Amino acid sequence: MTNAELNELKQRYVASGAASPDQHFADRAENAELWDADGKRFIDFAGGIGVLNIGHRHPKVVEAVKAQLDRVMHTCQTVMPYEGYVKVAEQLSRISPVRGHGKVMLANSGAEALENAVKVARAATGRSSVICFSGGYHGRTFMTMAMNGKVAPYRTDFGPMPGQVYRAPYPIDALGISEEDALHGLKMTLKTDANPRDTAAIVIEPVLGEGGFHAASPSFMKQLRELCDEHGILLIVDEVQSGFGRTGRMFAVEHTGVEPDIITMAKSMGDGMPISAVVGTDRVMDASGGNSLGGTYTGSPVACAAVLAVLEVFEEEQILAKSQALGEKLGERFAHWEQSFSCVRNSRHLGAMAAFDLVDGSGEPATELAGALCKQARQRGLILLSCGLYGNTIRFLMPVTIGDEVLNEGLDIIESLLSELS
Ligand SMILES: Cc1ncc(COP(=O)(O)O)c(C=O)c1O
Repeated sequence: MTNAELNELKQRYVASGAASPDQHFADRAENAELWDADGKRFIDFAGGIGVLNIGHRHPKVVEAVKAQLDRVMHTCQTVMPYEGYVKVAEQLSRISPVRGHGKVMLANSGAEALENAVKVARAATGRSSVICFSGGYHGRTFMTMAMNGKVAPYRTDFGPMPGQVYRAPYPIDALGISEEDALHGLKMTLKTDANPRDTAAIVIEPVLGEGGFHAASPSFMKQLRELCDEHGILLIVDEVQSGFGRTGRMFAVEHTGVEPDIITMAKSMGDGMPISAVVGTDRVMDASGGNSLGGTYTGSPVACAAVLAVLEVFEEEQILAKSQALGEKLGERFAHWEQSFSCVRNSRHLGAMAAFDLVDGSGEPATELAGALCKQARQRGLILLSCGLYGNTIRFLMPVTIGDEVLNEGLDIIESLLSELS
């Protein structure tokens, strides 16, 4: 079918809240390129929002998924377990920098991982409150909507939200929130709203994803860890977007030297297969009763096969080194843009988790300019995403396996648009 025919179906049958505004329908994809239903080519700088760190349809993952399809597609792992689930658990326990020996539960999406992380934290502590951060994003289920540190569009039409979710400021220098301000804010939250004795967990993204690609410093994370230990609160790091090699380490928290009690992960762990995980210290993960965690599809055999293949690709193709190298290339180009265009500010990257802000003449967020840049990039065959509290951050989530030629072609499109639009 053509884009036009598919758009007609979309308008008639897809719920407005779930319908993409994009008029192009993906037909096929390979590494960092996509082709739409009419055969138009796109360079993919979005990676399905951080899902494709090793590229679209990595051949090794496709092969593993096909092989699994020929064996068993589904049993429900609580009805009859299978090798893939326990092997993935073993591997995730091995690579996750949680305190002590890690145990694992698998789920289907990032939000579901966060829901389960809160469940196990409550079971392990016997406490109920959760503290999250302004600008944070954790998903679209009810608990995760309440946890998100941004109202529109996630929460706008859906209240009331579940209770006992409290918030503290995330340290973002570019928005005038220093590390000291953020720690002070957190301590105030513990005084004024969330009694430490009732607080099960503090949940933080080591690098804000939807909130604008701002990284918490090692010293902030260390002080957070100390505060958690002082009050018997569990530290949960949400690595759904920053994990699986995006920052040049397997998990962004490894840059800080801090060991969390629980890590949530999803997105690039399955290279497009829907799977997520909660990895935590065994004492925490074993706190809830038998059959208290799971779901019909959690840790499907096919998705588990994909994860095992992804982990092999990481070793064989030195994905972490590639992520680091890509970040450096992006950093160089951003530095050039900051010098050439007054609207480009605050360029930053931790490995390949890279972004810059667009500002107007008085340094205020240029939200419309960011929208125009992404829209016009798409018209020129480049898929580009914005993010951030003000929607003025341009973020880069292309596969780290992208070739230099395609990378530079995409960056050149941005550069010419910046000179036309600014
Ligand atoms: C940090 C973080 N946590 C959780 C989620 C929710 O993941 P999902 O969309 O798979 O439910 C996201 C999604 O973007 C995310 O970036």
